[in-house]
Amino acid sequence: MSGTVEGKVAIVTGAARGIGAAIASDLASKGARVVLADLNAEAAQQTAARIAADGGDVLALAVDVSSRVSTKSLIEQSVAHYGRLDVMFNNAGISQTCPFLDVTEEDFDRIMKINGLGVLIGTQEAARQMIAQGGGGKIVNTASIAGKQGYPLFAHYCASKFAVVAITQAAARALAEHKITVNCFGPGVVATELWQQLDREFIEHGLTERPDQAINEFSQSILLGRVSVPKDITGVTTFLASDASDYITGQTVMIDGGMVLI
Ligand SMILES: NC(=O)c1ccc[n+]([C@@H]2O[C@H](COP(=O)([O-])OP(=O)(O)OC[C@H]3O[C@@H](n4cnc5c(N)ncnc54)[C@H](O)[C@@H]3O)[C@@H](O)[C@H]2O)c1
Repeated sequence: MSGTVEGKVAIVTGAARGIGAAIASDLASKGARVVLADLNAEAAQQTAARIAADGGDVLALAVDVSSRVSTKSLIEQSVAHYGRLDVMFNNAGISQTCPFLDVTEEDFDRIMKINGLGVLIGTQEAARQMIAQGGGGKIVNTASIAGKQGYPLFAHYCASKFAVVAITQAAARALAEHKITVNCFGPGVVATELWQQLDREFIEHGLTERPDQAINEFSQSILLGRVSVPKDITGVTTFLASDASDYITGQTVMIDGGMVLI
């Protein structure tokens, strides 16, 4: 049926909390069968239990998205349980506030390994499964406003999110012949535990003085006048997982309340 995710099997990485948990919850509420995958397996299990209590068909599994062995195992276990893989959300990611001149090799490598390499591996391994089973599939990657603009306190994070956009475009071109679409979406400022961490780091660097000052100041340019919540994201993410988006590939859909206009 057009526009539905009913019956589709989706994996969402970084699904224990925040944006990933909201993506998984919305998909499950619309009849998808959803694997919640996270480095924090216990938290993923708790989130899955909440979704299951609302009637969702879900499974929680552990994954480290920066490891190919771990990602392969996640996909194998998901297929063993649900029989196939229709949609892969490469959503897990980390961030760090750091003044431009202070970013170290270690900072850069850590963020690129999870946000950049993790999306490459997740896209490759999901595609291998989709090609093997036939019939196409959908891969949806989590980019950011930081995938469109360089921000001085997030140089390495921005590099990793530009990488997500580049991998998405390359994969869309590489995988179209297999009827696999690859898109990403770009949140702006979303009130999750990630931003609580960034807010603390602003204070540690002496850049702000009070809790929530950083998120409030960073959000001044949002046209729609407020910070977003994970639920703001799910209209687009469920659309990108559904048949209604079958003719869209290689795109970045911004969900930022109008922070980046390109
Ligand atoms: N919050 C925002 O304002 C915002 C804005 C733009 C983009 N994003 C992106 O959205 C995604 C989710 O962000 P969030 O705000 O929900 O973050 P979050 O920190 O609340 O949740 C991230 C989840 O990813 C998991 N994770 C971290 N490293 C992992 C790994 N190596 N393997 C598997 N799981 C791992 C964590 O355990 C956590 O459950 C990230 O890619 C982030 O960069 C967030």
